[in-house]
Amino acid sequence: MAVRPSAVVILAAGEGTRMKSAMPKVLHEVAGRSLLGHVIEAAAHIEPEHIVVVIGHGREQVAAHLAEVAPWVLTVVQEEQLGTGHAVRIALHDLAARGAQLTGPVVVVTGDTPLLRGETLSGLMAAHSAACTVLTARIADPTGYGRIVRSGDAVTAIVEERDATDEQRAIDEINSGMYAFDAAALNETIERLGTDNAQGEEYLTDVVGLLSADGLRVDAFIAPDADDIRGVNDRVQLAEAGAIMRDRINTRWMRDGVTMADPFSVWIDVDVELAADVTVLPQTILRGPTAIASGARVGPGTTLISCEVGPGAQVIHTWAELAVIGDGAQVGPYTYLRPGAQLGAGAKAGAYVEIKNSRVGDGAKVPHLSYVGDAEIGEGTNIGAATVFVNYDGQEKHRTVVGRDVRIGSDSMLVAPVEIGDGAYTAAGSVITEDVPPGAMAVGRAQQRNIEGWVERRRPDSTSASAARAAREADKASGRVPSDGSSDSEE
Ligand code: UD1
Ligand code: CA
Repeated sequence: MAVRPSAVVILAAGEGTRMKSAMPKVLHEVAGRSLLGHVIEAAAHIEPEHIVVVIGHGREQVAAHLAEVAPWVLTVVQEEQLGTGHAVRIALHDLAARGAQLTGPVVVVTGDTPLLRGETLSGLMAAHSAACTVLTARIADPTGYGRIVRSGDAVTAIVEERDATDEQRAIDEINSGMYAFDAAALNETIERLGTDNAQGEEYLTDVVGLLSADGLRVDAFIAPDADDIRGVNDRVQLAEAGAIMRDRINTRWMRDGVTMADPFSVWIDVDVELAADVTVLPQTILRGPTAIASGARVGPGTTLISCEVGPGAQVIHTWAELAVIGDGAQVGPYTYLRPGAQLGAGAKAGAYVEIKNSRVGDGAKVPHLSYVGDAEIGEGTNIGAATVFVNYDGQEKHRTVVGRDVRIGSDSMLVAPVEIGDGAYTAAGSVITEDVPPGAMAVGRAQQRNIEGWVERRRPDSTSASAARAAREADKASGRVPSDGSSDSEE
């Protein structure tokens, strides 16, 4: 059993210039979580007594983010980025000032490595028995990384690219920038770091050389998957890390019983929950704490943000945020569910339908071209095509309540606040401004009148007039009584 570390120090003070961003690098996101958030998650896996994040550039933004996502981590400000050794030194001073007793190991990791997994740190802890154990990787192109110099199995030094000899540059085992240290050995050695190197910085890597020179053992633990230590320095690497994360997440869900025909086009955030026998179709994005129950089919072309989808529901070509989709409900194609949309069991929201802050009862249907806002729709009710819930009077929003088993005619305007009783009907094309009692038929539209012969008189040279004339002559020939065009007056 590996020991619990006393502390994990996360280095996150650097500027991240190559991101060319107004936002600090470690706040950029992969799979719905910040780079730093991923590292904290991995660090938490080995259950340290303390997590200390060293912040510097963009410190206000980073501190605000941490207060939101991980208020239990400590932060320490590194005013000037004087090197990785300096950063760890001030973190240790900060812990000492807080009275922390470092009885177990101290682990150091970097804040820009979102693919780092808890299991990899567990592996490092399990392997750690020396004064220091360096997490390393063997990679095809070691350019830019510190190289691991060994004598037999033992690590004797880490040499930075800029300070390396040609012979050392040929070494393909690289330093991840992550380590487990014996706390006492680290505390003692870190105070002896100099700045005699190409960058004039206090290199944490020099601790390794000092420990080795003192006759203490330094081991290497080679990362089982080199992706874990992949740092993000620019937007290209951000996209690469995102793609690896996507593959990891999708592989896990497929192994857990989720069907994906095209996992390369499916993007799932880390906090999403999927049941077995969910099907996720191509071009689908599941964000936030979205949860999808067994037998549901989502996609193609669907984005769900913090939604709940019930068992057996179908969601096709839809954008939905903070919506609840009931058991066996049907949504889409081309449906927009906004916050507070709740569809009951077996309910339907069809093509070109927008719903916000409304409950659609069990088995109720809004099949086509409608806007439903701030409404309650009872079970079994049908909302005819092109109905608008007129919820906004220009200043305030009002609610509409539609009872159960109601039939709202097509192209109705339900002007809120208004209530339609159970089992009522409204005539197509009605503007409903007053409450409708249960079982009534509401007609809220002008009486139709036909002005006979209008086209032949007023548009005599038009194709419509020729068509009208032909129809009148055909009627006459067939013996039907022709209209004389005088049934109504013109205006
Ligand atoms: C460091 C290692 C190198 C390793 C590489 C892995 C040293 C001297 N070199 O190099 O061996 O291969 O990481 O990525 O340690 N940081 C601070 N404060 C500072 C300096 C850095 O917080 O004063 C943070 C950075 O924000 C970053 C991390 O430490 O998250 C690494 O710093 P960086 O400057 O990128 O080190 P490298 O030169 O890449
Ligand atoms: Ca780096």
